[in-house]
Amino acid sequence: MSRVLLIGSINMDLVVEADSFPRQGETLFGRRFATYPGGKGANQAVAAARLGAEVSLIACVGQDAFGAELLAGLQAEGIDTRWVQQVAGATGMASITLAGGDNAIMVVPGANHAVSPAQLDAAEAAFAQADVVLAQLEVPLATVEHAAMLAARHGKPFILNPAPAQPLPAGLLQQVSLLTPNEYELAVALGSQQPWQQLLASRPAGIVMTQGSLGASYVDADGVLRQVRGFPVMAVDSTGAGDTFNGALAAFWSLGLAEAVRRANAAAALSVTRHGAQGGMPTLAALQQFLGQQA
Ligand code: RIB
Repeated sequence: MSRVLLIGSINMDLVVEADSFPRQGETLFGRRFATYPGGKGANQAVAAARLGAEVSLIACVGQDAFGAELLAGLQAEGIDTRWVQQVAGATGMASITLAGGDNAIMVVPGANHAVSPAQLDAAEAAFAQADVVLAQLEVPLATVEHAAMLAARHGKPFILNPAPAQPLPAGLLQQVSLLTPNEYELAVALGSQQPWQQLLASRPAGIVMTQGSLGASYVDADGVLRQVRGFPVMAVDSTGAGDTFNGALAAFWSLGLAEAVRRANAAAALSVTRHGAQGGMPTLAALQQFLGQQA
């Protein structure tokens, strides 16, 4: 099992379940409200840790009640949080609406904006010890670029989940070992409107594109398009499915891309069967049982 170093966000998710999404200027009643731990960095860390990876996280929370609660939750998952700083101001939060099997998310970064290149330098030992480094885009881009540079300095693979979508500088793309966008994020990251099949083919072996319940696609080293099917489940909350995929991919990195993607698809499927971004993330035993049932 891999030693995974995560650089990313920690949020408290404020979730409203409703029958439909409000239109501009409209007030609707929701059916249910709950708070759940979230943030793409924290979610991916929890996904990898539940699957048995040794996980370290570089992140920031605020000096508030959410920050303390979220930090304690990460420690309870067995994640090494010695590189997580508590900074002045509010912890990151996400306002999430769930309706009709879909979600809409608005993130207020708060303390996540304080994750800095200097914080990464102070944690350089963690790069040396990792088997694989994983980041997303809810912390400043300069920090993500610095993470890519430190991963390269230590000869470690760097997985970048380019979410939320934003155009990526060519220099950063060159240092990414594996990019894991969905179809929209792929187009935005590469700044191209070409069909996704062409974009994948133009960068063989460097991109795995997630496709929700359909699974994921990538072009292998021989230039062949591989579509790895997803697993049908009864979905109740798709929040965090992509994060589960990424955390699992990093956790199973040593198994090779094809097997890591198959298991990541299965972990992502299980994750949507419970409420909350982290609620349905499987343990290794639960994943093995699920895969055994599919055979
Ligand atoms: O990917 C899902 C996550 O996006 C949520 O947990 C929310 O916090 C936002 O970061």
